[in-house]
Amino acid sequence: MNETTIISGRVLSFSGSPFAMPVEAAVQLDEAVAVTGGRIAALGALDALTARFPGAAQVDHGQKLVMAGFIDAHAHYPQTGIIASWGKRLIDWLNSYTFPEEMRFGDPAYAAGIAALHLDLTARNGTTTICTFCTIHPESVDAYFAEAQARGQRVVAGKTCMDRNAPDGLRDTAQSAYDDSLALLERWHGLDRLVYAVTPRFSPTSTPEQLEALGALWAAHPDCPMQTHLSEQTDEIEWVRGLYPKARDYLDTYEQFGLLRPGGLFGHAIHLEDRERDRLREVGAAVVHCPTSNTFIGSGLFDMAGLKAAGQTVGLATDTGGGSSFSMLRTMAAAYEVGQLRGTPLHAAQLLWLATVGSAEALRLGGTIGNLAEGAEADIVVLDLASTPAIAQRSDRAQDLWEAVFPTIMMGDDRAISEVWIGGRRQVFEG
Ligand code: GUN
Ligand code: ZN
Repeated sequence: MNETTIISGRVLSFSGSPFAMPVEAAVQLDEAVAVTGGRIAALGALDALTARFPGAAQVDHGQKLVMAGFIDAHAHYPQTGIIASWGKRLIDWLNSYTFPEEMRFGDPAYAAGIAALHLDLTARNGTTTICTFCTIHPESVDAYFAEAQARGQRVVAGKTCMDRNAPDGLRDTAQSAYDDSLALLERWHGLDRLVYAVTPRFSPTSTPEQLEALGALWAAHPDCPMQTHLSEQTDEIEWVRGLYPKARDYLDTYEQFGLLRPGGLFGHAIHLEDRERDRLREVGAAVVHCPTSNTFIGSGLFDMAGLKAAGQTVGLATDTGGGSSFSMLRTMAAAYEVGQLRGTPLHAAQLLWLATVGSAEALRLGGTIGNLAEGAEADIVVLDLASTPAIAQRSDRAQDLWEAVFPTIMMGDDRAISEVWIGGRRQVFEG
């Protein structure tokens, strides 16, 4: 495991954020990256790395793009089986499709099967880290962590807590949510590459007592992230107003109970009020953009340009099964389209940055994953920029790197994923 492999190609890394500086200043291109013992050992010219690591194995990818693996900063692995379910908006979608399926995850064998399936489907799409909600069942958390641990994969996951407005069989209590979450956190957090996230589903499915209990749990374990949902649909916001009449706004339903701090991950955050935008940024909490979900469930258009210009930390995510794809390429394409609908198209470099560094920073894992840099964990994706005839005929005409990359972002799928490395191990996909 301590041997070195030198991977050559068009090796892309970020020396800064393309939201904060010109793309040319933010992006670094090298000929090769050396991987030793699960970490990035060096980036540089192929000759220089070959001289520095004599006897290293070599893998050449020619004109393919070699970069950090994608990070899906908000997903629901238990919804794998109900992805692409037709015609409902958020609350009806939860009641009609999501809750019945999530009911099944008390069965450890079922949970283990879907955990493995989800990790297979995402890895084939170049995703090397996922931050996922599980279900209320501790078994669903054990299943995901066990499967990720066996793969040497960095994942973030937590028991979804709900003690109201969910069907029988899918509710815990304030006390059991606290106790079960604590036991899972103690079992898994910090083990190998695993990270536990305190996970209240969203304010409508938790009583104030449950949010308070989870606020106390998070205060005792502040290095854990806390993931939830915020201001996804207007009906949902009205519902929250009725359930928490004293709260200033939706964000305040979390803030009141100690659930707004650095490490907070707020999925969607579309219909924000000014106070909410300011508080999220002041506190240093992250929001997570889930564009395929926002169009699929009809939620609205996220204000990426405005939030990034204000300095907000933003991650990018599939939100499967509300999202309609396991692919972060498809997710980047949807983020581009949402930007276009708001009159603010994102550059290809910004899209790639969001799917890697942006998500890593949202998870407070910047420097560890999400970028090819010396000392970082070796999670790598190799992208074929000519993976289908339709893409190839367009990228053939490219005048520069970005014209070569953008067709793959917009039109690419798992066929564009040539190779995936997780923790320095090349993945082999069956079938
Ligand atoms: N809000 C609360 N739960 C969910 C969920 O499972 N998916 C989405 N998209 N939004 C939610
Ligand atoms: Zn979600």
